[in-house]
Amino acid sequence: MAPLAIGLMSGTSYDGISAALVRFHGSSLRVLAERTSPYPERLRQRLQRGPHLCAGELSWLNVALGERLADAALRLLRHADLSPRRVAVIGSHGHTVYHGPRDPLPSTFQIGEPAVIAQRTGIPVVADFRPRDMAAGGTGAPLVPYFDATFFGRGPIRALQNLGGIANVTVVGRGIPTMAFDTGPGNCLIDLAVASLSRGRRRYDAGGRLARQGRIDHHVVARLWRHPYFRQAPPKSTGRELFNDALLRKVFGRRLTRSPEDTLATLTYFTAYSIAESLRRFVPHRLREMIVSGGGVRNRTLMRDLATLLSPVPVSSIERYGIPTQAKEPVAFAFLALRALQGRINHLPLTTGASQPCILGSITPSSH
Ligand SMILES: Nc1ncnc2c1ncn2[C@@H]1O[C@H](COP(=O)(O)OP(=O)(O)OP(=O)(O)O)[C@@H](O)[C@H]1O
Ligand SMILES: [Mg+2]
Repeated sequence: MAPLAIGLMSGTSYDGISAALVRFHGSSLRVLAERTSPYPERLRQRLQRGPHLCAGELSWLNVALGERLADAALRLLRHADLSPRRVAVIGSHGHTVYHGPRDPLPSTFQIGEPAVIAQRTGIPVVADFRPRDMAAGGTGAPLVPYFDATFFGRGPIRALQNLGGIANVTVVGRGIPTMAFDTGPGNCLIDLAVASLSRGRRRYDAGGRLARQGRIDHHVVARLWRHPYFRQAPPKSTGRELFNDALLRKVFGRRLTRSPEDTLATLTYFTAYSIAESLRRFVPHRLREMIVSGGGVRNRTLMRDLATLLSPVPVSSIERYGIPTQAKEPVAFAFLALRALQGRINHLPLTTGASQPCILGSITPSSH
């Protein structure tokens, strides 16, 4: 019978746990249930402070997040009216507290205790995907391209663009080597500006409504585009250490508050611009389509700007392919976990720089 797997993801936006229950059948899949459960404010704040916590606090957070992840999995099962016994594996990415691929001794650290998830659900758990790739000399990221290549790689040349906190792209298609890199900011600059302009009352520009009413400041767009990250050739990855409040203050100065709508129109346009221009700069193929996933798909102004800047390449949501927007990453980790359980390779050394193909993930067996 086609195996069922659950994927759990907590991304760079600190918005919550995205979970998906998936049936895999050869090179096709079906999402049976999916859901993003927002974090309660206190847990969100602890996660944000993750890198600065002491050992005891971090240890607590690891278990507290494990409990939440287990809850997210159990809730999906209830929703799908399915017994845990029917599920072969849970792939849990966890939450990244630290990622240092370029440190003298490269390391990465994800939390969300797999023992808790296995104990509460009775389902084997595969977690800690990134350390093995790094042990093999890779950067531990990106890992989703293995999924992209498996499920989209045999078609025409397409860009799979994910709009999480950071935006990352995989270019796949018949006859080309898979290529993947972080294009730069996804929702992170927009979210930071919204939080700052609303004094913490709002966390994102719902539907891109504020941005739609503003005017784009092309001088600011040009200044942001001068950031050295955009000239660096792939493979490359980034995070909030580059795209943060300090950068916003540097380019906007005090103008950030003058017109919230103009600020958001500018940052939203810039996010789309950095994606379109990065593809132009670094991808030596003619794209037939861009398939967008992640919470940013719900920002209609961002999607509109992307469509304008990529034209005539059509831009569509991954929903068109049966995957709800925020389910893409959990679906991918469900697949990687299934491969690990089967003892099969589950990453692309070409996109991470690992010296040899490995089986990523640590397995926590179920006790049943
Ligand atoms: N209705 C909406 N309108 C506009 N933006 C939205 C909406 N819903 C979600 N978003 C954006 O999507 C973000 C969450 O997306 P997602 O969960 O894909 O990112 P993530 O947690 O950073 O994941 P990852 O790091 O794995 O890519 C939110 O922080 C917000 O910016
Ligand atoms: Mg998220």
